[in-house]
Amino acid sequence: MSRAARSILCPCSGDYSDDDSSWDMPASAAEAYEGIPLVLEVSPHIASRPTQTRSVHVRVGERGEASDQVISYFNNAAKTPLSKSVQEAGECAMRQQANPWEAQQDELPRVRELYSMLLKGSSPDDICIAPSTAFAMTMAAHNLERLGILQKDDSILVLENQYDSVIYPFQDVCQRTGACLAVIPHPTVNQTWTCSILDRLNASNDSTSRIKVAILPSLHWANGSLLDLVSISEACQVHNVLLLVDATQSLGVLELDLTKVKADMVAASVHKWLLGPVGLSLVYLAPRHQTTWLPLDQHGRARQVPPGWNASSDMMDPISGFYPSLFQKGAQRCDSGGKPNPILIPMIRAGLEQVTQQSLPDIQQKLVQVTNAVVSKAQPLGFVSVPGPRGPHIVGLQPGPSLIQTLTPQVMLAMAERLAKNKGIYVAVRCGGFRISPYLDTTLHDVDRLIDALAQECLRVQEERKNDTNQL
Ligand SMILES: Cc1ncc(COP(=O)(O)O)c(C=O)c1O
Repeated sequence: MSRAARSILCPCSGDYSDDDSSWDMPASAAEAYEGIPLVLEVSPHIASRPTQTRSVHVRVGERGEASDQVISYFNNAAKTPLSKSVQEAGECAMRQQANPWEAQQDELPRVRELYSMLLKGSSPDDICIAPSTAFAMTMAAHNLERLGILQKDDSILVLENQYDSVIYPFQDVCQRTGACLAVIPHPTVNQTWTCSILDRLNASNDSTSRIKVAILPSLHWANGSLLDLVSISEACQVHNVLLLVDATQSLGVLELDLTKVKADMVAASVHKWLLGPVGLSLVYLAPRHQTTWLPLDQHGRARQVPPGWNASSDMMDPISGFYPSLFQKGAQRCDSGGKPNPILIPMIRAGLEQVTQQSLPDIQQKLVQVTNAVVSKAQPLGFVSVPGPRGPHIVGLQPGPSLIQTLTPQVMLAMAERLAKNKGIYVAVRCGGFRISPYLDTTLHDVDRLIDALAQECLRVQEERKNDTNQL
């Protein structure tokens, strides 16, 4: 039993004391964490992320008991664990909702301001909100169709295995207009993704199917392959191609300078590198579209209240008028649906405060150390990563020649499940590889745990395969 060990544990019940913020850990757990500085956060029902040593958690069982499992989280590209400040913002917003007579501050202006701070060259007036990146992309697709920008035989440039929130809205618009998708395949050792994209854009004028829109991320969501959006944007300008950016997997870690990348729209779901909750995408809309694009759904918040209009006395007649018709100025006209979500907005505000205070070069340096270690240590096991430039925070480990027969996607999924269940190591399986996406509190010790566990798993599945073959 170690009272000196301070844990991030949040038991729903159990032997902890509020007043001295300590908790009597089971001996096995205390032994595991000996010497590791942990912080106690008492928060029933919510497994908190530690404020200082996030990668070391104690799990809380169903009955509020701790198991002594250490967690190594390599899945920030799926969903970030919520920091204490984001949780508190949500809890506080929830309490305010319970008491509707209490005034709640409108935090949306601050959210627009913080998001625009991540996009050099933008202003808060250029930011609108959507419930998801798919929603934002659907809004864009409808506007491009409505304005006659996308027509029969036009092409829309996308990547092979691009995230579906981008693809579905444009598949839909292709069906209606007769436009088609021009899919740029994964990079090879001889050709980077950026080069392939530039070649296709430069060939656009000679081709029968002219590229009208390119919808691209800064890096690929499944393997971290990096695109040079500055050169791509320059080519888009030359060929009069609109550029829509899905920055979900990059903003918060990578810079996006809109004075160099002349994007028409930039959407980023907030529940990964922007440290927010699931359920929101923040969207930059270039000023040139702010008088012509329409929101996907129609609601009063997108309209300007006319001067002198009085909600308590003026009557509204759907035919003869008094429903304000003028849209809001700026990107706000494209805000989605009704009232901003009163729980999520304060939470993302808290996440963005954190993100905007961090130094991008420091974050990148820290993360690249971890992902480089993963790549070099996974190589002797038989894993390879995609050729070409890669972002600092996401890497895909593909089975190389020695593993390719054994590690089918199904086998990898089963391996990932065992890693999570038995070892508390969280990775994703995406596009035929393990996707490794650490964040700032992932340590080189976590990398060693991951590599040891992967080595054991590879041995195990190879043994199983041998046994299966022997039985045939
Ligand atoms: C590249 C990319 N874009 C977008 C999203 C999220 O999209 P949506 O907000 O539509 O769920 C994800 C993952 O969730 C992603 O990896």
